Amino acid sequence: MKTLFSGIQPTGNIHIGNYLGAVKNWVDLQDKYACIFSVVDYHALSGNMKPEELHQNIFDATVDLLAVGIDPKKSIIFQQSKVIGHTELAWIFNCITPIGELGRMTQFKEKSDQANHQGTNTGLLMYPVLQAADILLYLAEAVPVGEDQLQHLELTRIIARKFNNKYGQFFPETKPVLSPTPRVMSLHDPSKKMSKSLGDRSYIAIRDDAETIKKKIKKAVADDKGIKNLLELYSYFGTTKKHQQMVNDYKAGKLMNSELKEELSRVVIKFLEPVQGKIKEYEKNPKKVYEILEHGARDAQKIADKNLTKINKIVGIN
Ligand code: TYM
Repeated sequence: MKTLFSGIQPTGNIHIGNYLGAVKNWVDLQDKYACIFSVVDYHALSGNMKPEELHQNIFDATVDLLAVGIDPKKSIIFQQSKVIGHTELAWIFNCITPIGELGRMTQFKEKSDQANHQGTNTGLLMYPVLQAADILLYLAEAVPVGEDQLQHLELTRIIARKFNNKYGQFFPETKPVLSPTPRVMSLHDPSKKMSKSLGDRSYIAIRDDAETIKKKIKKAVADDKGIKNLLELYSYFGTTKKHQQMVNDYKAGKLMNSELKEELSRVVIKFLEPVQGKIKEYEKNPKKVYEILEHGARDAQKIADKNLTKINKIVGIN
């Protein structure tokens, strides 16, 4: 089986953009690949979360992933900083990555613009190098992500090629795996992708209660892009047959925006109900969650050790 790796930042609870863009694929691909999933806490340190908040978010993200269907019996799930090797390999990669490649990353440009008044930290610049290390430490070939991560995966391939050219063939070619909804748009501003950083009204978190979901969907912007987004969301939470009927009805002017929104709220709430039930169960048993993470870190460490030993030898530091 080929290795699959993906990660998510512990930045608060997971939203339906994360789920439909990436995490649903993680769940669905667990039988097809040797899967490794990481809650990437080192990446989150490049933001400015408070320590208590970060600590809680690591736990919450893990619970969310387990609740939507990541199965620790099939897949490795671990906290990034608990495995030695990610930052070590990132340093090796830093030494072959041209600064220009990092400066042109869209995400870096956006985030450093936002942070401009306080000055940008170096972690934001190195961020995609650490991401390349996450993936290549496990020699992963498949990486299920949303569209916003494609540029980082292109850089991962560039870094692997540079390494292979300098030291001889070692790293595989990494390929993104995209879902049918690689870019879920914000409810509030459908010209932008759904994101926590756009504020509460932009996203539906998988922990949102029924009332909140209804309210957010009711207020969703219903211009052309917004409606397209709502119909797309419906196609993944509703049934295919009904979705086609909804699209036809909408085009024929038979369906009002308010009806579409009510129907969408209904299917989203129905989908999230059992997920939220599982979240509650895991929250009652934090020990179990931490055990799953520890076990995952142990398994990931074995693979990391094996590969890092080879890499260190290849570059001459072993
Ligand atoms: P993060 O934490 O921002 O998001 C996690 C995953 O969710 C996807 N996503 C979306 N997909 C569709 N529509 C949206 N509106 C949307 N918002 C988020 C993201 O594309 C991502 O797949 N840099 C990564 C974390 C990371 C990583 C890795 C990923 C670190 N190391 C190695 C893959 C492999 C990030 O910040 O994702």
